[in-house]
Amino acid sequence: MRTAYTTPDVARTARPAAEIDADLLILPVFAEDDLTDETGLHQASGGEIDRARARGEFTGKLFDLFVTGVATTGWKASRLVLVGAGPRAEFTSDRLRRVAIVGGLAARQRHVTRVGVLHRAAPGVTDVQAAQVIAEGVCLANYDGGSYKTEDATRVWLERAEIRIAGGADGIDAALERGRTLGEFSNQARVLANEPGNTLTPRVFAERAMAIGSAAGVQVEVLDETRIAALKMGLLLGVAQGSQEPPRLVVLRHEPADAAPGVVLALVGKGITFDTGGISIKPAENMDKMKDDMSGGAAVICAMAAIARLNVPIRCIGVVPMTENMPGGRAVKPGDVLQSAEGKTVEIINTDAEGRLVLGDALWYARQLGATHLVDLATLTGACVVALGKTTSGLFGTPAPWVEQVRLASERSGDRSWPMPIFDDYKDHLKSEIADFTNSGGRAAGAITAALFLKEFVGDLPWVHMDIAGTAWAEEAKAYQPKGATGVGVRTLVELALDAPSWSNPR
Ligand code: BES
Ligand code: MN
Ligand code: ZN
Repeated sequence: MRTAYTTPDVARTARPAAEIDADLLILPVFAEDDLTDETGLHQASGGEIDRARARGEFTGKLFDLFVTGVATTGWKASRLVLVGAGPRAEFTSDRLRRVAIVGGLAARQRHVTRVGVLHRAAPGVTDVQAAQVIAEGVCLANYDGGSYKTEDATRVWLERAEIRIAGGADGIDAALERGRTLGEFSNQARVLANEPGNTLTPRVFAERAMAIGSAAGVQVEVLDETRIAALKMGLLLGVAQGSQEPPRLVVLRHEPADAAPGVVLALVGKGITFDTGGISIKPAENMDKMKDDMSGGAAVICAMAAIARLNVPIRCIGVVPMTENMPGGRAVKPGDVLQSAEGKTVEIINTDAEGRLVLGDALWYARQLGATHLVDLATLTGACVVALGKTTSGLFGTPAPWVEQVRLASERSGDRSWPMPIFDDYKDHLKSEIADFTNSGGRAAGAITAALFLKEFVGDLPWVHMDIAGTAWAEEAKAYQPKGATGVGVRTLVELALDAPSWSNPR
């Protein structure tokens, strides 16, 4: 298997652009930006930049690209990549992250390994934010999904990024390291989600969690089918019983000595390594995409690793139920009744609504392990894609301030999300004649009724569910986002943990 990503070194420089020792300089350019603050730039480009702007070839429109050589001998770099950054007044750290990705991808296409990124001041971005998101961006640009291609393509990885930040703010180096870690583990999550169902079975997924977590200093425990049965996790076992592959339940623990007392953030992720739909089988078209149905689990594993690597001073546990959803001879059937570890009974209406089942037992288990705050991530419903599309994840939960904390973390991280209602009225959709409730509320409000199912398993803890069905996989390439796995959720979860002082109130 080919390497899918590497993590470049990142360092700060305060040197003038001319003295940055790199193959190529990445320069964000705003709309109506005269660039006069960039000393020597016009001469360095031999007037090319001015001419490109005069003929309207490059205007500073968001993500437009202009590449030119450096003409004067006084500069160490030999090439310049100008990346459109849009109006300066509208610039945000989210835009800067994407501008850095666009610049990094352009550099790799030009077979360049050492880049300089020239941060340019804008009212909406602090120097510390800039350092973090530029580091994230160059790391995110260093990913390639063609893991199983055998032809001998020359692929170039960025090895080093020098980031010019003029101001003398404290915390720049820590921000660079944070960004680098977030980029690295977002890429790691993309690798896992990109892995086919035949190579990433539940057992292999658990081994990968063990390897990734242990290397970062997380304690990882893998529960096999016997232990899952001893815990009476009838929902997880019910989904797994149609498969030849046994299920796993992975528990990850980050318990630093300096942790804030009384707070345990539990991250729960859906880990369906392949979702055929089971007996309620899915149509053939696009079923291949269901290899990514473990993206929530991948995000949890990789976020836990990043949290440990960054020594975030908060106790966190990760819980990832792993299984295939297959239509085997012993598979759960519509009409069957399963009993959860908590004791609640579920009438299976549709075996394709399997994610909520495995999460039900996992959320209950997170509470048994002492969680005080719950967040779950799951590629849970097609209905969420209908509601919010491919760019925005759905947020569901209670109480509202906790949902808002998660939304703010996702906004900081560039993972867009938006809150959805979970009014009690929707609970009627899940009424069963024979059991406590059903596992499917039908087409109407499908993302909401799925969330209400999960709510049955969260007790009275603050809880947020993030439906990443639309956002985990990019169907279309964008300037800042190649097709394929996105790594959504990793940065949101780490940002949430980093921000614990603002939301936790130790009892
Ligand atoms: N993994 C799917 C959800 C999904 C669909 C993710 C499309 C990404 C793209 C989930 O297990 C599922 O099949 N959900 C069903 C629920 C229904 C049967 C109530 C759905 O959304 O159709
Ligand atoms: Mn399904
Ligand atoms: Zn699924």
